[in-house]
Amino acid sequence: MKTVFPLERLRRASTPLYYYDMELLGQTLDMIRTSAGRFGYHVHYALKANANPAILRMISEAGLGADTVSGGEIAAAVEAGFKASDIVFAGVGKTDAEILLGLREGIGCFNVESLQELEVIEQLALREGLKARVALRVNPNIDAHTHHYITTGLEENKFGLDMSVVPDLIHKCMASPALVFMGLHFHIGSQITVMEPYRLLCEYINSMQDDLERQGLTVETINVGGGLGIDYECPDEHPFADFDRYFSLFHDNLRLRRGQQLHFELGRAVVAQCGSLITRVLYVKEGVGKRFAIVDAGMTDLIRPALYQAHHAIQNLTGEGRPELKYDVVGPICESSDVFGMNETLPEVRRGDLLALRSAGAYGEVMASRYNLRSLPGCMI
Ligand code: LLP
Repeated sequence: MKTVFPLERLRRASTPLYYYDMELLGQTLDMIRTSAGRFGYHVHYALKANANPAILRMISEAGLGADTVSGGEIAAAVEAGFKASDIVFAGVGKTDAEILLGLREGIGCFNVESLQELEVIEQLALREGLKARVALRVNPNIDAHTHHYITTGLEENKFGLDMSVVPDLIHKCMASPALVFMGLHFHIGSQITVMEPYRLLCEYINSMQDDLERQGLTVETINVGGGLGIDYECPDEHPFADFDRYFSLFHDNLRLRRGQQLHFELGRAVVAQCGSLITRVLYVKEGVGKRFAIVDAGMTDLIRPALYQAHHAIQNLTGEGRPELKYDVVGPICESSDVFGMNETLPEVRRGDLLALRSAGAYGEVMASRYNLRSLPGCMI
């Protein structure tokens, strides 16, 4: 399925703006439901990828749970209709206020990343007379082979607990009147495009579970995090991540115990392909041996190229039929990293043309800033 852009509406709109293809999002959600449903797996949507209210509502209506990392995201998830019991809350630095919000809303699980955090959650739950359901986030020390800024499962990263401390912490939960031990949580990184790291994760979890079992410890849920990558170069050829291959890999490699639930936390693979950043060409400038297309969107609207050297496919929506030329597509911000693409082949670009930066539905709009006192990008559905 190919995104068809509503050109007339876009021409009249002020840019830059995020355009979301809700039909594509709907199809992605159907696919996830079918693919994960075959094995009875439960998928939480990682709100950090995109918290646009219309998108959240559609995802909650599709029956996914919510993976949150702040009080703001917990509130947005509740507002969008996610059931509190389907909300999990992760992050290495949860504040007391955020923990209290989670407790009072009755969220499904706190994914705990340190002993001290567990103690604070316990104290706050005792004080409130509430019970906190917790999972322990374990750092499996697996290389996800992705950009080093978005790899999280290595010992050098700040995330998770070392496996050796887990049995003690489980005992601590079992001994506490305020804590309920739910299970184990893992997340190895993001934009993972090969399956091998996930297979290694399954092996790691299998042997860890064997270990815990020998000690008489049982686990209700296993949460393997998110990270499934998408095709940034050919969004029309591959509008959906390979969900079947992904879920089947866990089915084939992970030894779940009787009654044990498997949870996922997908962000990018749910929303990336349904969103595009639409930008207008301000100027075409002939440089020395180079031709620049200067557009009205910048790194403040989509920071991924500047921050992770990411590349989003660029399409000239209004240049159909013109001869192709090469351009460096750059934004207006006074930073040399404000570049969306070098040597992009595009149908001849003219002032006023609309370009689409594709696959920008995840970590696009949510990461926008007001640097240079620019306005935040708009949005069209
Ligand atoms: N669960 C946890 C604990 C996470 O830290 C993340 C993402 C996810 C789930 C969702 O991962 P996903 O399925 O979206 O890969 N801003 C970066 C990505 C940062 C990802 C952070 N954690 C980017 O634009 O590439």
